[in-house]
Amino acid sequence: MQTATGFARQVEVNSARLMEELQVLSKFTSVEQPNEGTAVTRIVFSEDDLKARAWLKRLAAEDGLLVREDAVGNTFYRLVGSEPDLPAVATGSHIDAIPHAGMYDGTVGVLGGLEAIRALKRSGLRPRRSIELVLLTSEEPTRFGIGCLGSRLIAGILDPESADNLHGAERGKEAETLAQVRDAAGFRGPLSSVRLKQDDYYAWVELHIEQGPILEREQIPIGIVTAIAAPASYRFTIEGVGGHAGALLMPDRRDALCAAAEIILSVEKHALATKAIDTVATVGTCEVYPGAVNSVPSGVTLQVDIRDIDPARREVVMLAVRGDIDELTRKREVKVTEELVNADQPAICSEHVIEVIEQVCAELGIPSKHMVSRAYHDSLFMAQIAPMAMIFIPCRGGVSHRPDEYASPSDIFHGTQVLANTLARLAME
Ligand code: GLV
Ligand code: MN
Ligand code: MN
Repeated sequence: MQTATGFARQVEVNSARLMEELQVLSKFTSVEQPNEGTAVTRIVFSEDDLKARAWLKRLAAEDGLLVREDAVGNTFYRLVGSEPDLPAVATGSHIDAIPHAGMYDGTVGVLGGLEAIRALKRSGLRPRRSIELVLLTSEEPTRFGIGCLGSRLIAGILDPESADNLHGAERGKEAETLAQVRDAAGFRGPLSSVRLKQDDYYAWVELHIEQGPILEREQIPIGIVTAIAAPASYRFTIEGVGGHAGALLMPDRRDALCAAAEIILSVEKHALATKAIDTVATVGTCEVYPGAVNSVPSGVTLQVDIRDIDPARREVVMLAVRGDIDELTRKREVKVTEELVNADQPAICSEHVIEVIEQVCAELGIPSKHMVSRAYHDSLFMAQIAPMAMIFIPCRGGVSHRPDEYASPSDIFHGTQVLANTLARLAME
């Protein structure tokens, strides 16, 4: 059997081209505030997202990759192997970006994946297994309130019918349903058809920036992810009583925003109380109704994001928050409704894929270390249908989800080299 060993050093990523393509992709953005430097806002199925997808499709087609799109817009770019009936080796990530984000989150995995496949083709290696790059739809929860839409549907853990009814999390804004939005974007057909089978992929590997400070601090160019922490998110709706900001007397108030403020602090207090570095909780949005300076807030919607490598400890925090909410609803005479958006399990990475990445790093002479991903990724769900692992590269100051997110060309190059050679090895197995 032909093996990838020995090919490894021949697979050479074109760093200049990859960096140029990352720059081009970053220009597909709809940033609301000018003068924000490199800020990228690319909400799923927005005009910019669709333009970026079309550009990427052209790039992949130029390289002779077979392109397939599914009903939710996940896009598959396949290099056909010499034994096309074998389960393929897959890689991928996302190109949607939260408001005022940077230009590397997700995109390094997509464009790095494309360049890795091109490098393999240039090397003359003919993989046994097909190698597939996947652009996954809506990894970010910005538009539909839940992250990893495309990969959840691939893994079959999101009911297709309720997925089609998902709509914007914000009152009055982005209220179209997923069914309407994907239809307008040209992605049609039943969402049930998105699901993939257990043996479609032999392995899944995602390249991503670390989004944390550890690799930079320890000056290690590659992180090999062993597990992904379990995310959960909730929506709290607080109903109080509004009125005139001048005329409604203080003792008579049932201010929804004041109640929300207590909930926000309760989330922080109980996440800190676990004393575990892996417990993190955030209230990332707060929508106030009616939202006028001279009006007492009558309604508030909060979105809470809470994660832990230990889902039981995550639940302990939520129980404590609910205890506080019971107390404050009585005290403030407001009504609080809790809606669970998602509560996922952690993912454990495949020992075999980890081992292959380790071997590749050793062969390329690139130092690496094992680490946990506290951010979630589509890999959390791809792990349900294929042995999964992730390759992390450092990002400056550990900063992500900000315009000043930055990963150096040399770190991106090393990550892509490791990805290309990992795909090569796996595709020869
Ligand atoms: C992904 O963007 C996350 O929020 O972890
Ligand atoms: Mn992100
Ligand atoms: Mn990401």
